[in-house]
Amino acid sequence: MITRWRGFTTPKRLCEALNDIFRMNSLKKRVFIIKSSDLVGEMTAKTILKMGNPVLREIAELVSDPTAPEITELVQDMRDSLLAVGGVGLAAPQIGVSKRLVIFEVPADRAESEDGAEAEAVPPTVLINPVIEPLTEERKLGWEGCLSVPGLRGVVPRYTHIRYSGLDLAGNPIEVEAKGFHARVVQHECDHLDGILYPERMTNLQYLVYESEVPAFMEGLAAEKSAAE
Ligand code: NI
Repeated sequence: MITRWRGFTTPKRLCEALNDIFRMNSLKKRVFIIKSSDLVGEMTAKTILKMGNPVLREIAELVSDPTAPEITELVQDMRDSLLAVGGVGLAAPQIGVSKRLVIFEVPADRAESEDGAEAEAVPPTVLINPVIEPLTEERKLGWEGCLSVPGLRGVVPRYTHIRYSGLDLAGNPIEVEAKGFHARVVQHECDHLDGILYPERMTNLQYLVYESEVPAFMEGLAAEKSAAE
């Protein structure tokens, strides 16, 4: 996996990789669509904690009973919070509840823009007490953002193929193999349960940038690439 990462450190290869995976336009469209549906029903959107809040550093507690009313309510609050701001996933600690529970989904257009032919859309999922097992040593770089780190984007290496298991809201076991963006989202969300934010997973902080600077950043990489040729 280290070899893989180093393989991208030449500006040419990194630039190519980033151009392939950077699709902000489709993400923005999706956020707009989600916001129009906020008008339906009563929202219980909570404040999303930002990097620096001690709850985000904690090792979250196991959920003892996934069917407990407080867990149902927690999931509703998380769904509403995610709808209010837009995004593909949220972990309970991000709304101040230090429990091992995450929600996520991968819309078809997002999966396609990240993974191309290997696109894998995933419906809205609740995952309780998750455990992740990497099924490969290979890690791939990809852009990530986080609602707890607003305004920034970073290029993060993640395992390309994992198996994750846990429980759903009814307490039934879940076991899923995931690749590509699906695997990336699950690794990102589950890291929150161990007090880890994506910048800590980055191997090169030069690739931590403000979202508004991403176009300029990409241009800079392209310039480095042509200078190297
Ligand atoms: Ni996050």
